[in-house]
Amino acid sequence: MKICMIGTGYVGLVTGACFSEMGNDVICIDENTEKIEMLKKGIVPIYEPGLKEIIERNVQGGRLNFTTNLAEGVVKCQICFIAVGTPQDKDGSADLKYVLQVARQIGTLMESYKIIVDKSTVPVGTAEKVREAVKDELSKRNLDNLEFDVVSNPEFLKEGNAIQDFMRPERVIVGTDNVRTGALFKELYDPFVTTTNNPVLIMDIKSAELTKYASNAFLATKVSFMNELSILCDKVGADISQVREGMGTDSRIGPRFLLAGPGYGGSCFPKDVVALIHTAGSLGQSLEICKATHRANEKQKAYFAEKIINYYVEQKADLSKVVIAIWGLTFKPKTDDIREAPALDVIARLLEKGIQVRVFDPIGMDNARAELGDSVFYAKDNYEVLEGAHGLAVVTEWNLFKSPDFERMKELMSKPVVFDGRNILNATDIKSKGFTYFGIGRGNDC
Ligand SMILES: NC(=O)c1ccc[n+]([C@@H]2O[C@H](COP(=O)([O-])OP(=O)(O)OC[C@H]3O[C@@H](n4cnc5c(N)ncnc54)[C@H](O)[C@@H]3O)[C@@H](O)[C@H]2O)c1
Repeated sequence: MKICMIGTGYVGLVTGACFSEMGNDVICIDENTEKIEMLKKGIVPIYEPGLKEIIERNVQGGRLNFTTNLAEGVVKCQICFIAVGTPQDKDGSADLKYVLQVARQIGTLMESYKIIVDKSTVPVGTAEKVREAVKDELSKRNLDNLEFDVVSNPEFLKEGNAIQDFMRPERVIVGTDNVRTGALFKELYDPFVTTTNNPVLIMDIKSAELTKYASNAFLATKVSFMNELSILCDKVGADISQVREGMGTDSRIGPRFLLAGPGYGGSCFPKDVVALIHTAGSLGQSLEICKATHRANEKQKAYFAEKIINYYVEQKADLSKVVIAIWGLTFKPKTDDIREAPALDVIARLLEKGIQVRVFDPIGMDNARAELGDSVFYAKDNYEVLEGAHGLAVVTEWNLFKSPDFERMKELMSKPVVFDGRNILNATDIKSKGFTYFGIGRGNDC
């Protein structure tokens, strides 16, 4: 099939590359000239394991092309995916300006039947808005009779595991009101599910749109639930890791998404939870659980930073002389994405108290630099960052941080104190090596 992918970011680039891997002809379009120029030179602008190889193979095979020219894609392809950003607007709603801008552009360019697909995460009712925007532009061109379909096909890939998620999805959601389009989408996604027998679920458009938000809000709720319990664990002296194991072995609960940490971040959960609350609110419904999920997350982000700050306050330290090393800046491992990363929040709170911050991340340093400027010291590795530090805060659970050389750490640090925001270090082990250790929900309130 001939596909154009409008928006070549974390979702659009992976989606476009994976469709081409299955033999489709794909044109990836972005308005960001620098991004497209890099891709044309074979440079992948984001870090996603396995993506570069797929891009190289399919560019060489002539199935994957990059351009800033929207007309080229729209004219050549019958299926136009919209995969642009839907950031949080000031009132909490999803800002649809990029999606609707693209819809209008398609309406000004299309000359024949098109299937326009919302791949971006968009609230219920957006397909209708897209349809209106396209119709409006067609009408201006006296092309009222030109047919097109709008499909909702939300994406569930996880950054860091995006290729695996896209190539072998647990399910594909397709919202359409046209039986033929549904059949075409089954055909498009069939190669991705044949080995697993996982379903391509064809449903009505609104249900598809809502499924994406419902899934993200539910996962965020699991995280917030455990985060709240982790604070209780600290107070009562219980260990959240053991509680998780005990809970997770119940097949009705399951072990995944039960890890306590410094709050969820990233480009999806925070904005999607808030957008869902907004959608319901605009219809007079208050989503109490989602609101609590969001509040608990805000509290958790502050909790980890306060744990660090309180320790030095209790030690009667002059905060302006305290140096904290940070391990991990991205919102999770195996990505360079720092959007809404908990580390940024923690760092901001430490800096606000006058604490000096040194940072290291295996992949996210460039993105972090663009965000943090010269407010922190950027170290070249996970040991240099420890030089002279009075404490280490582990914020992202990169594998690299899981079995460090404790003796070397002790030599480099001014004080052997570790705040493990992801509970990745063995508490007994690290304490036996002479470190003062604080996890999240490991029974040490401070
Ligand atoms: N990142 C994820 O893990 C993930 C997962 C599932 C769903 N989503 C959703 O997918 C959507 C895209 O997310 P992302 O992380 O890929 O965003 P992104 O910011 O990485 O990419 C969006 C791209 O769209 C481009 N763009 C914006 N307006 C354009 C226009 N008019 N024409 C052409 N290109 C344009 C931008 O330059 C950018 O490169 C969002 O709605 C997001 O919520 C993201």
